[in-house]
Amino acid sequence: MIKIEDVSFSYNRLDDALSEVSLNIEKGSWTSILGHNGSGKSTLSKLMVGLLSPSKGTITIDELPLNEDNLSKIRKKIGIVFQNPDNQFVGVTVKHDIAFGLENQCIPHDQMKQKIMQYARLVNMEEFLDKEPHQLSGGQKQRVAIAGALAMEQDILILDEATSMLDPEGTLEIIELIKHLNKHMNKTIITITHDLSFAAQSDHLIVLKDGKVILEGLPKDVFKEEELLKSSHLELPFELALFNEVTRQKPEDTKLLEALWAYNSKM
Ligand SMILES: Nc1ncnc2c1ncn2[C@@H]1O[C@H](COP(=O)(O)OP(=O)(O)OP(=O)(O)O)[C@@H](O)[C@H]1O
Ligand SMILES: [Mg+2]
Repeated sequence: MIKIEDVSFSYNRLDDALSEVSLNIEKGSWTSILGHNGSGKSTLSKLMVGLLSPSKGTITIDELPLNEDNLSKIRKKIGIVFQNPDNQFVGVTVKHDIAFGLENQCIPHDQMKQKIMQYARLVNMEEFLDKEPHQLSGGQKQRVAIAGALAMEQDILILDEATSMLDPEGTLEIIELIKHLNKHMNKTIITITHDLSFAAQSDHLIVLKDGKVILEGLPKDVFKEEELLKSSHLELPFELALFNEVTRQKPEDTKLLEALWAYNSKM
């Protein structure tokens, strides 16, 4: 679905924010991107939606090369929720904010209203439709941003730290929503996060360090590389470290390992 080949990007022409990154993201998968502050995660996500263009390399989205000619077609396929919800609240009220992207699509008024309700309900914000941004908490703004992106109904959705301001219950709700979108609505999901327990639940992990991919694969395999993860300031939470320890000491006890992994997925 997304093919990134040998992509480099520099903001200042001096040093690379991303260097020689190659990746494949499968259609219908849920991929998490991990990495320390400044490792290049948001830069990578902005390149994937065409907000930045690579200084080197190519990006292909659903078989379309990402270039100026294809940009409007690609924007219909891939959506993003940015890291900072304050920077993306563009409507006067929640309702207008969710509607913002839809307004360019010439959708009949009734249908638009219905979509706003549907997606506001999905993120539990239906009672806030007439509120203005200053009346909302950071987590509530994050929910609105997610609803606005979902309303565009693109096949691929990138969530850049979209749960960073949510309380534990709110985070669990969004994880459930992501799983639902991924499993039952066939969306390809990319989540950028510092939360390893959250990332553990995705199908595929990519770890960035200083603008380079240092690890990639199934969460279970990536999490075995504790030293490399530490070098990217990622410390395994207790339950994942425990999983690794049991894997080392009792590799034959597959039932116990399966149970532990399933338990992690509920955290
Ligand atoms: N607009 C910008 N202008 C100049 N340099 C930038 C800009 N945005 C990011 N950078 C630099 O590019 C590098 C990668 O930044 P990026 O925002 O992609 O990291 P990140 O992995 O998303 O970090 P975080 O976890 O803090 O969100 C950093 O060194 C950062 O200082
Ligand atoms: Mg970032």
